[in-house]
Amino acid sequence: MNVQDQLVFVTGGGSGIGEALSRRFADEGAATIVVTDLDGDAAERVATDIGGTGLGLDVSDEEAVTSTIASIEKDHGPIGLLANNAGIATGGSVDVPTALWQKTWDVNVMAHVYAIRAALPGMLANGSGYILSTVSAAGLLTNIGAAPYAVTKHAALALAEWVSMTYGKQGIGVSALCPQFVDTPMLDLFGESASQEWVRSIAITTDDVANAVIEGLAAERFLILPHPEVETFFQNKANDYDRWLGGMRKLNEQLNNPQFD
Ligand SMILES: NC(=O)c1ccc[n+]([C@@H]2O[C@H](COP(=O)([O-])OP(=O)(O)OC[C@H]3O[C@@H](n4cnc5c(N)ncnc54)[C@H](O)[C@@H]3O)[C@@H](O)[C@H]2O)c1
Repeated sequence: MNVQDQLVFVTGGGSGIGEALSRRFADEGAATIVVTDLDGDAAERVATDIGGTGLGLDVSDEEAVTSTIASIEKDHGPIGLLANNAGIATGGSVDVPTALWQKTWDVNVMAHVYAIRAALPGMLANGSGYILSTVSAAGLLTNIGAAPYAVTKHAALALAEWVSMTYGKQGIGVSALCPQFVDTPMLDLFGESASQEWVRSIAITTDDVANAVIEGLAAERFLILPHPEVETFFQNKANDYDRWLGGMRKLNEQLNNPQFD
């Protein structure tokens, strides 16, 4: 998948990884980039910089997602690259209130369902299309201190796998972007917690992520891992699940009450 001359639709494009991807897609010669975000002003700011279209869009609002994609397709034709990137990092345990679990589910999982449901028919009719799901290493490995985040990211990864295995033979490509920590405003949620220093020490830049995405899309690789060590961690987990869980328990202890504030 080469983004040159493609119609690209990005969610959560007003900040962090989504912003960097939107800018990089423009550099790579995408024909039209639709930058969407819950924060419409942020989306417009990025879109203005790159000559794209900026729109306010709450990805957890199915009707809004469906009508926005329909209106873009009416003006420009089928989407070439759908980047389902918006997400929220909900930390905490099973005791996180049910309403917040549900919100995390809606933004991190159902939003991908809504956008894929809306864009897929046009892609299939066109015989080609690509879906980039911003998941997280937490979707492969389960992160410490954030049960709603880990659970919903696993579900987003399963959805990406399912779409790939179901529609791959009909011209639909899928990649799942699974970074560990990336230096974006999302990291602010760690506040002044004990985990902060460790998190910052391994965080990469959004440009690093954009480079990995362009390379991963070109190779049409399902897993895009901007932190290459994640592949080894994932292999270790598969090779000996109990040993991997033991190591994670130890890390949990070391990080000393790591639940995000
Ligand atoms: N930063 C990291 O360490 C990291 C690591 C792995 C995965 N991710 C994932 O990357 C994606 C982007 O996160 P980021 O780090 O760039 O964070 P960010 O906070 O900088 O950007 C997230 C963007 O999503 C938007 N957003 C939130 N809820 C939305 C909604 N309901 N509808 C539309 N837009 C909404 C926000 O307004 C924001 O602009 C997320 O899916 C996140 O889970 C981040």
